[in-house]
Amino acid sequence: MRVCDSFAHGFCSKFCYGTGMCGIVGYAGARPALNIVLDGLRRLEYRGYDSAGVAIVLSGDTDDGDAAGRRRPGELLTAKRAGKLANLEKALAEEGAHGLRVGATGIGHTRWATHGGPTDRNAHPHRSFDGRVAVIHNGIIENFAKLRAELEHDGIEFASDTDTECAAHLLARALQDAAGATPGEKLAEAMRIVSRRLEGAFTLLAVDVEAPGVVVGARRNSPLVVGRGEGENYLASDVSAFIEHTREAVELGQDQVVLISPTDIVITDFHGNPVEGKPFHITWDASAAEKSGYEYFMLKEIAEQPHAVAETLLGRLNETGDLMLDEVRLTDQDLRDVDKVFIVACGTAYHAGMVAKYAIEHWTRIPCEVELASEFRYRDPVLDRSTLVVAISQSGETMDTLMALRHAKEQKARVLAICNTNGSTIPRESDAVLYTHAGPEIAVASTKAFLTQLVACYLVGLHLAQVRGVKYADEVAAIIAQLQEMPEKIEQVLSMMAPIRELARDLAEAKSVLFIGRHVSYPVALEGALKLKELAYMHAEGFAAGELKHGPIALIDEGTPVICVVPSPRGRGVLHDKVVSNIQEVRARGARTIVIAEEGDVAVKPYADHLFYVPITPTLLAPLVTTVPLQVLACEIASARGHDVDQPRNLAKSVTVE
Ligand code: F6R
Repeated sequence: MRVCDSFAHGFCSKFCYGTGMCGIVGYAGARPALNIVLDGLRRLEYRGYDSAGVAIVLSGDTDDGDAAGRRRPGELLTAKRAGKLANLEKALAEEGAHGLRVGATGIGHTRWATHGGPTDRNAHPHRSFDGRVAVIHNGIIENFAKLRAELEHDGIEFASDTDTECAAHLLARALQDAAGATPGEKLAEAMRIVSRRLEGAFTLLAVDVEAPGVVVGARRNSPLVVGRGEGENYLASDVSAFIEHTREAVELGQDQVVLISPTDIVITDFHGNPVEGKPFHITWDASAAEKSGYEYFMLKEIAEQPHAVAETLLGRLNETGDLMLDEVRLTDQDLRDVDKVFIVACGTAYHAGMVAKYAIEHWTRIPCEVELASEFRYRDPVLDRSTLVVAISQSGETMDTLMALRHAKEQKARVLAICNTNGSTIPRESDAVLYTHAGPEIAVASTKAFLTQLVACYLVGLHLAQVRGVKYADEVAAIIAQLQEMPEKIEQVLSMMAPIRELARDLAEAKSVLFIGRHVSYPVALEGALKLKELAYMHAEGFAAGELKHGPIALIDEGTPVICVVPSPRGRGVLHDKVVSNIQEVRARGARTIVIAEEGDVAVKPYADHLFYVPITPTLLAPLVTTVPLQVLACEIASARGHDVDQPRNLAKSVTVE
């Protein structure tokens, strides 16, 4: 056996750099692993794009090697580059490796760095001191300093600044005397030994040059799922990496080690006790993870919203008119006992939670608080058995939300998850789950997940109201019927976006954009501002319209664009009139007003420099239509400014660090 490290770059270290939210893929099968791993990384790149790398164990076939016969079986090839996947692919092409018909086993990594600048040398995979194993990692090994000191004391030199490299060296050492009937079993045993020593969050994948045909993974607090193919198996951070090859997947639990070979999937806990993985079928279509002719994933995902909302509503009422959640490990009595609801979430999901507060309190009359998940446990909230904590997360892996959920469970609260990702950690650890059926969301900025989170929150509110007898089945059915009209209304909004696109070109050079709204339009204003910040890198802020006069109105200068989301003049007319007054206030101070209002609302006309109508919608459901123009606006402004709309700088899709 030989080892080579043809593309490894740069050495020496002072600091350790963790790897926060990354995409990880592993393949064991008979097909050329390099291409399969690169394809998987392409689908996972939204999870992080600071660097990318692969490790391939060349198979034993004499055929293996590139056309020039430069590589031979039994080698471990690693390649890695800072920057997007394209940099790695270019390097591979330059090395003549891209066309390799080789490698039955491979792992690949796309990184979102948590500390320090991303460089070639810190890119994954990392090799052990003897070159025998290559390791990729998602998470942070918290006791790395101690481990590194121990390894350095033993004379091992580090080639990177990462915590991951500790795992590679420890694995090689553990392999020296790991028990096992086959090289693969020895690798799995070594992984268990190492995992027991690591603290923090990690998904690790490893290949061993002595064990071609096997990839071993370990999981604690970071995502990892298994894809079961025909004569081949996969490991990945999420199913989008392998849905074009198989729709059959297996969930892994906490603190588990998995070995995949072309024919086997063997799961144990960290002590070697066998574990049954939970199989599940992936309903997502492979084409759902393709751009399908759209310039950006984000535009495609915005366009998919009517369908995503309809799917999330599908089949929710049973024959007796009762609402159905997806997985309920709570009794109706548990729900009747709830005397307080906390919603925990981050970013866009938090904005969905803010809207939910209005609906849940209105429909159930139970007090409902919304908290940023990252703040929740640190303020020691008062929770008990009769508290319901609703955790909203598209990815199901957001560490802040997961930690909030765990804190709630420790305090004996009941936890209900609203999630888009089957097999992810947050739903698995919750007492009840309602899945949003948005399909894979690839663009980093959340759009269709947000709208489906709103729908799921409405359903949770209605379910609670029904179980507690606050609303009759026919009242619930009437609101469901209104919800069922929403896909068509969203479609109408989407068909009227030409003037928004035009306005976007006009606003592309603005220094700052403000958003205002009241009641459920306030979170919509916050969401509009978040989209603009993250995509266009512009200063944007959302305010409760009534708060402006308490300070922020000083920001308004001649021509400052202010986007005003106006509540319906029907029903809660008082809200509408108050916002119209707020529009006049900003206009009087020179603002350029961009007004989103309900069709037929003539009262706003005199104060709107630009006016966009959305279809008439019940007040609580209005965010399902008023958010859409703000998504399109942010996307178009970012595009006009020449930004990468799907992969904005500094961000990653799945935030698995606190
Ligand atoms: C913004 C965005 C983020 C996420 C947040 C939570 O467009 O996508 O703010 O909403 O990171 O992510 P999930 O929903 O996966 O927990």
